[in-house]
Amino acid sequence: MRIYKFDEIDSTNKFLREKEDVIEGDLAIAKVQTLGRGRRGNKWVSTEGAALFSFVLKHDIEIPEEEYMKLSILIGYSLLYSLKKIENLDYKFKWTNDLYLDEKKISGILVEKIRDNYIIGIGLNINNLNLEEAKSIAISLREKTGKTYDLEKVIATVVEDFYNNFQEFKKGKWKEILEKINKVNYLYGKRINIVTFDKEESGIAGDILEDGMLEVFIGDEIKKYN
Ligand code: BTN
Repeated sequence: MRIYKFDEIDSTNKFLREKEDVIEGDLAIAKVQTLGRGRRGNKWVSTEGAALFSFVLKHDIEIPEEEYMKLSILIGYSLLYSLKKIENLDYKFKWTNDLYLDEKKISGILVEKIRDNYIIGIGLNINNLNLEEAKSIAISLREKTGKTYDLEKVIATVVEDFYNNFQEFKKGKWKEILEKINKVNYLYGKRINIVTFDKEESGIAGDILEDGMLEVFIGDEIKKYN
């Protein structure tokens, strides 16, 4: 494992993505990101105090396309597991891989597949105090508990837990993992809108299913979405 630490960088995901010689376990950590990236091309506000990091999972393990959703869910689940060890609070897992606390987002995960690697990027609101505009939608651990945390220790815990949980996943423990995830399923019972390329539907979210898809009750129909 090699660790790259930056006081400031555009994006830790971008750093590992563009690095030619990455190996499994390579970890990039930044205090601040100037171009933090979120999913669907969104910006990720990356101020000091948040845990901002990315690490490499080698793709030679061969994760079939249909398992990809599971990987994404596993990362969120593992992060929740790590957070619980740090502060045992009532976190929720928002399918497919966000974590919520008190109805607000505490972390975001961006997984990118590049060559033979997955770059797993995590933004975790730990010591940062959220700016006014983000206050209604985001929360940090410090805002919740009033404490400050050792960011490097938090990151080490998260990364180590992930590799351990990934081993369990590879050993075929997906069903047990899924059972635990469904106990903290943020969307369960909530009304959600599903926008596909040709229509928008509204339904009530149910469980996360074995293939990683979300069950949604629309009228008297049960559908599943990825
Ligand atoms: C999301 O919820 O949209 C995902 C946000 C992921 C943000 C993290 S911060 C560290 C890593 N580097 C990035 O540029 N993005 C991820």
